[in-house]
Amino acid sequence: MNYFLSVSFIILLIKGLNCQELDQLDELIDYLKNNPNSKIGFLSASNYASVKRILPEGIKPAYIEHEEDLTKMVLNGSITAALVSGLPEARYHDSLHIFSSGLVTLHSILMAPDQSSDYPHGNSESSATYDLSIAINAAISRVQLKGIDKELAIKNAPKEIVHAHTCKEDDQTQFAVPNKKEAKGFLREILDKKEIRVLGNGPFNWGDNDGNYLVDPPVGFYPDLLQAIIDEFKNMSGPDKESYGEITIKRIQTKESPFPWYFLFNGTTHITEPYFILDAPYGGSGKKCSTESDCYKANLPSGYEPCSNFCRHPNRPRIFMLRSSCTALGTDSKFYTKRGTKKSSGGSNTALVLLIVFFVLGVIGSAGIIGYLIFRERRGLPVFRPI
Ligand SMILES: *[C@@H]1O[C@H](CO)[C@@H](O)[C@H](O)[C@H]1NC(C)=O
Ligand SMILES: *[C@@H]1O[C@H](CO)[C@@H](O)[C@H](O)[C@H]1NC(C)=O
Ligand SMILES: *[C@@H]1O[C@H](CO)[C@@H](O)[C@H](O)[C@H]1NC(C)=O
Repeated sequence: MNYFLSVSFIILLIKGLNCQELDQLDELIDYLKNNPNSKIGFLSASNYASVKRILPEGIKPAYIEHEEDLTKMVLNGSITAALVSGLPEARYHDSLHIFSSGLVTLHSILMAPDQSSDYPHGNSESSATYDLSIAINAAISRVQLKGIDKELAIKNAPKEIVHAHTCKEDDQTQFAVPNKKEAKGFLREILDKKEIRVLGNGPFNWGDNDGNYLVDPPVGFYPDLLQAIIDEFKNMSGPDKESYGEITIKRIQTKESPFPWYFLFNGTTHITEPYFILDAPYGGSGKKCSTESDCYKANLPSGYEPCSNFCRHPNRPRIFMLRSSCTALGTDSKFYTKRGTKKSSGGSNTALVLLIVFFVLGVIGSAGIIGYLIFRERRGLPVFRPI
């Protein structure tokens, strides 16, 4: 009887210690519903856009530039949870609960579209991206066919990727790239200058596993993935078998807000980094302007993007306004929360509970044994009988 009481008491005690732990998606969502002033931290507005639909109304995003600060803010309680499309660095894993948001985020290389009636803001002939996009897609699909993306995820652990491909890679004849001599638009420029200019958001430190762009050269999964794609790109050749040859990556990173997508339109850059989230809004070219006519053309009543200091466009899905490569990778976006104070001073509380359990069991056990021995004694049986 006593024994059962003690056990139930201990179970209640353990439950009590655990009750504040947000270690599952439904618990986090419930908590946010009951605590609508909670903040969730994100590395970018795109990360927020990709999970917004599963968060309760009114939850405010907090944007933090570097992943380590994001993690520190989860740990010091200034935000309830963080969401990243990778994983926090391994050294923090013991102090965090990390769980899936249940959403696969697709990442790709974005380019300007070519000008047409659908894309009045698109690039004209000398900066056309059609040939370039075929070559980029061929390179991405080769990286995926060879499993290099998976190898890079293992090399840069902890990094989990989801194989979410949009271009079937096993038939490489689908990606027939133009001859080096005949390449047009941006591909022509890249091959002539032997340099590809790549637009990035930053420089930020998203962890040495995902991508730390504060060091030169940058380290982590995303920089490695871009290098692998460009390494495939160099070896590509059209029907005449002349390979594209040496190409170096020149990164152009910007923290400008609104994001200057027009860098893809005016030749500042040819492509974006491969980490861009497809399921996020495009809000205009982002060029500085004083009147609408400074802006890019648009399928809007005035024929131009509206100007309010910067050229803006009513939000549209990125795939409506830009050219996307085949998906470079998918990620299972993860939330992480702090392991509760009680639980994470953790180890020691568990140890205390175990001590109590052993003590109680010990008392019950020895009482039983002593009782048994007394019983045998009384019946005149030997106290100890080897088996
Ligand atoms: C929590 O950590 C962040 C990042 O290190 C820091 O900026 C902030 O001031 C801290 N807040 C508190 C309440 O300690
Ligand atoms: C490119 O081709 C060269 C020469 O054939 C080869 O050594 C290299 O491994 C190839 N690179 C890739 C990424 O396939
Ligand atoms: C593109 O825009 C940037 C920023 O306004 C400017 O510095 C650059 O010269 C422009 N590039 C071209 C080719 O016009």
